Amino acid sequence: MSDFVNCYESTTRAEAYSKLEFANTYHLAFRDLPEIFGARVKGTAALDFGCGAGRSTRFLASLGFAAVGVDISPDMLARARQIDPGGDYRVIPGDDMSTLPREGFSLILSAFTFDNIPGMETKVRLFGGLRELLKPEGILVSIVSTPEIYVNEWASFTTRDFPENRNAGPGDEVKIITTDFEDRSPAVDILWPHESYLDVYRRANLEMIEVRRPLAKGDEPYRWVSETRIAPWAIYVLRRSS
Ligand SMILES: C[S@@+](CC[C@H](N)C(=O)[O-])C[C@H]1O[C@@H](n2cnc3c(N)ncnc32)[C@H](O)[C@@H]1O
Repeated sequence: MSDFVNCYESTTRAEAYSKLEFANTYHLAFRDLPEIFGARVKGTAALDFGCGAGRSTRFLASLGFAAVGVDISPDMLARARQIDPGGDYRVIPGDDMSTLPREGFSLILSAFTFDNIPGMETKVRLFGGLRELLKPEGILVSIVSTPEIYVNEWASFTTRDFPENRNAGPGDEVKIITTDFEDRSPAVDILWPHESYLDVYRRANLEMIEVRRPLAKGDEPYRWVSETRIAPWAIYVLRRSS
């Protein structure tokens, strides 16, 4: 086990994170989801894995899903419940998904959760666990940071203080600061390129049916920095492999 610390397990970070919505660079992570869900998801039972302060869970609910938000951080979930007292938010300790219904969900969303989860083995175990929670025709949508996010400047992030990010290889730590909120302590993520994710999905018996790397069009009401040229996010659409 590494000594990697989940930087979201703190009240300061939970407070900061609870202010984030869908503006700036985050707009591109959420923009295409209604279309993807509309085309691919049959049913309304949804799980938001790594729901944090509930932004992504509220997003699912706004689209008509019966969404359950789960996270390992009680601080984050406390914020989620404060903002959305009627929501269904549950702590799952470690990677124990045994309290969640097997084959219970038409959609599982994981928004930025795997950016912070170190190690091939852990990622494969968690994706394998999520696979078991999918209905046979269910869809898992995983939004992660692209390697490019850590070496460019963005409407919502800066990485200029971390030139060492350029030398990072798969599985190495990289740092990034969110400029959308006041807490300027860096998030420590794990660099995990496309090929490494493909490896994880294969080992977890998941099949990739689509990957999107959304770019800004230029007519959005945000001050783009790199977003019209370089994609900050990768959106993987996965299903159980047969
Ligand atoms: C970057 S936040 C994203 C929160 C939310 N999805 C959103 O879009 O605002 C990532 C979240 O994943 C959670 N997380 C990390 N490892 C986890 C695990 N093994 N199981 C569940 N949640 C986890 C963290 O505690 C954190 O709240």
